[in-house]
Amino acid sequence: MGILEVLLQSLDRRVIIDAMDLDNDLSHLRRRDLLALTAALAGSLLLRPGGALAQTSGGAPARIGMIGSGRLGGTVGALWVKAGHPVMFSSRDPEQTAALVAKLGPLARAGSVAEAIDFGDVVFLAVPYAAMPEIGRDYGARLAGKVVLDAGNAVESRDGAIAAEAEQNGIGVTSQKYLPGARLVRAFNTLGFTILEREAGRAEPRLAIPIAGDDAAAVQIAASLVRDAGFEPVVVGKLADARRFQRGTAGYGQVVSASELRKTLSLAP
Ligand SMILES: NC(=O)c1ccc[n+]([C@@H]2O[C@H](COP(=O)([O-])OP(=O)(O)OC[C@H]3O[C@@H](n4cnc5c(N)ncnc54)[C@H](OP(=O)(O)O)[C@@H]3O)[C@@H](O)[C@H]2O)c1
Repeated sequence: MGILEVLLQSLDRRVIIDAMDLDNDLSHLRRRDLLALTAALAGSLLLRPGGALAQTSGGAPARIGMIGSGRLGGTVGALWVKAGHPVMFSSRDPEQTAALVAKLGPLARAGSVAEAIDFGDVVFLAVPYAAMPEIGRDYGARLAGKVVLDAGNAVESRDGAIAAEAEQNGIGVTSQKYLPGARLVRAFNTLGFTILEREAGRAEPRLAIPIAGDDAAAVQIAASLVRDAGFEPVVVGKLADARRFQRGTAGYGQVVSASELRKTLSLAP
């Protein structure tokens, strides 16, 4: 997408700026010019109706709120802090996140789940899947309009009946049912946190992270955040297509490059 199209679409208020494409299109500009352009446009053109401007991959840092700061949330959040994003880690028990935040330095902070949602331009959801109905009930209104990256897997032995629902209807569609207003993108669900920790930012080819969502601008933001964490995004399709990389399918657990994953999933190279 060219810069003119970005501006026209922004004028139309249908999308926020596509940070990834903007990066590519404006790579010939000096970073200072780009920042000035962004600042000049931010007030009137690029703010979403909700007011949040999320930029990633070389743009202004995105504020990220973590719901779930355990093994997966703690790992991915730390990678984003390392990439320069301010991250708020939440727990229902503030003691749980204190050590993590102290270790990560000034870009990391701790808060309640509600505070993390309000803090984030983007919210990362890394909770046992059984918690989805409760999260939807307690925080659905707060999450409405937010870009939400959902990494949960439904495991029957841990999560109970909701696993059958995710199996039958597809996990992306199921997550959206519980978080109806969120700009949901499935991401980071396929690889274990130890692999993510170890392989982030490895030499090319980087490991693939499949993503899927119905909101094109949210998918682009997720793709940029995948890159910032040190991986290569593979856009698999809409939320309904997220079943192609949910637990138990061919796209799940693939410790492979983007081109290999595209081949496995018969996606265009
Ligand atoms: N572990 C992995 O390598 C991995 C990889 C890919 C995907 N996943 C998926 O990611 C999700 C999290 O896995 P994990 O291994 O990171 O789990 P974990 O280490 O047990 O951490 C779970 C986190 O979720 C929070 N949480 C639980 N119930 C909650 C609720 N009702 N409301 C708000 N927060 C709640 C917990 O916060 P409190 O401190 O408040 O209890 C904790 O921070 C699961 O769906 C899992 O399938 C995990």
